[in-house]
Amino acid sequence: MASSNTQGSPSALKTIPGSYGLPVIGAVRDRLDFYYFQGQDKYFESRVEQYGSTVVRINVPPGPFMAKDPRVVAVLDAKSFPVLFDMDKVEKKNLFTGTYMPSTKLTGGYRVCAYLDPSEPTHAKVKQLLFSLLLSRKDEFIPTFRSNFTSLLAAVESELAKSGKADFNKLNDVTSFDFIGDAYFGVRPSATELGKGGPTKAAKWLIWQLHPLVTLGLPMFIEEPLLHTFHLPPFLVKGDYEALYKYYSTAGKQALDMAEDLGLSREEACHNLLFATTFNSYGGLKVLFPGLLANIAGAGEKLHERLVAEVRGAVAEAGGKVTLAALERMELTKSVVWESLRLDPPVKFQYGHAKKDLEIASHDGVFQVRKGEMLFGYQPCATKDARVFGATAKEFVPDRFVGEEGSKLLQYVYWSNGRETEDPSVDNKQCPGKNFVVLVGRLFVVELFLRYDAFTAEVGTDLLGTSVSFTGVTKATSGPGS
Ligand code: HEM
Repeated sequence: MASSNTQGSPSALKTIPGSYGLPVIGAVRDRLDFYYFQGQDKYFESRVEQYGSTVVRINVPPGPFMAKDPRVVAVLDAKSFPVLFDMDKVEKKNLFTGTYMPSTKLTGGYRVCAYLDPSEPTHAKVKQLLFSLLLSRKDEFIPTFRSNFTSLLAAVESELAKSGKADFNKLNDVTSFDFIGDAYFGVRPSATELGKGGPTKAAKWLIWQLHPLVTLGLPMFIEEPLLHTFHLPPFLVKGDYEALYKYYSTAGKQALDMAEDLGLSREEACHNLLFATTFNSYGGLKVLFPGLLANIAGAGEKLHERLVAEVRGAVAEAGGKVTLAALERMELTKSVVWESLRLDPPVKFQYGHAKKDLEIASHDGVFQVRKGEMLFGYQPCATKDARVFGATAKEFVPDRFVGEEGSKLLQYVYWSNGRETEDPSVDNKQCPGKNFVVLVGRLFVVELFLRYDAFTAEVGTDLLGTSVSFTGVTKATSGPGS
């Protein structure tokens, strides 16, 4: 499809520019650009530049032979992106992972919540179950977080003493998995029959669903047939899934009772609990904490000093305890968490099918989309939009969201598949873990700066995001308030 024009007044409808190239060949060629020749960010940014538009027609991976149709209309600025949040305009059925859908054999034969459109009655029941579960466990979040992550930091220190380096991602994988089980069900998976193998089983099962979208850094001729062309067979991960399922069906007994009251079968509810806990929550924290840590490490000692003062001051005022009221007083801490979620949204792709013929407005024009077309948002382009966040849009600015002026920008933070100023509900597709995620992000910062005056780290890239290794910590020289 050829690039186009502005005709008449600026408000006239524009044709969406872009190109899908030749059938099959175009999509494969674009996939190679995406993974190997350009990389994700460049893939999208270069097309915005080439066509002079933030609403463009492009192919998205994986393409042939896993996705029936790789063609999308991409919305790549802060103004056009929110069309994906509007349930009157988009349908969100079977597109959690995009243009392909993993086999339901990986989820017990069920289409779990993330793949359901709010118009499907099961969506409201499962989402309500998750809201009720989180609400019923809210008083456990702070103590379980603290006990699990205090141990993590103790392990960091012993690894630093031994080898001068501590791989945070590895420790985080083990800790976050246990923390989530502890927080949601009061049962640490590692203390059950599942033993220490939970995170590895979970990671394997995640790869079976996400392999079309990742690169392992292997040569292209190995990865292309292995990861990006055909689905990995579900039977190879069946045993791992069954072991995880057994943990949830036992540890999640109370939640499953709640599910029955909501009209769900225990079995469907349990597959959903597994998914929300292992894919959504664990998968999220696997990416969230390394990203946050890397950004705080990169900002250096000046920020560390300010966070130490804020965190210890508020905790001292709360009588030496980490309470919700103390967290509320930590404005910089909260801003740091939002800024990290803005700069490195852990879930970068969002999709929706146009429910009807639509008009989508970008900063530069209004575009027409036809009913049934696939809309796609690459979130980093939207949340690093210079026309909203100014010249520092691509930088980590710790106090960006502090104060009245700062909080006005929160409406442009989209990590939860909705504006940060809006709330998830059974009628939308915004993440039900929204408040939990921001809470644990803040608790992570608090734990760091109650314990350390400063730290240093090395940052690299990982399969799903950032990799971080601590290279040094300066233990706290003062307690809260002193
Ligand atoms: C949906 C992000 C943690 C449960 C979503 C979506 C995003 C997201 C972007 C929308 C996907 C789409 O439809 O396009 C994240 C991130 C997390 C996180 C970045 C952590 C850093 C959690 C947690 C839970 C959770 C802790 C636990 C309840 C879900 C569920 C959905 C969802 C069930 C589907 C919602 C629906 O169908 O209405 N999440 N999430 N997520 N998330 Fe989260």
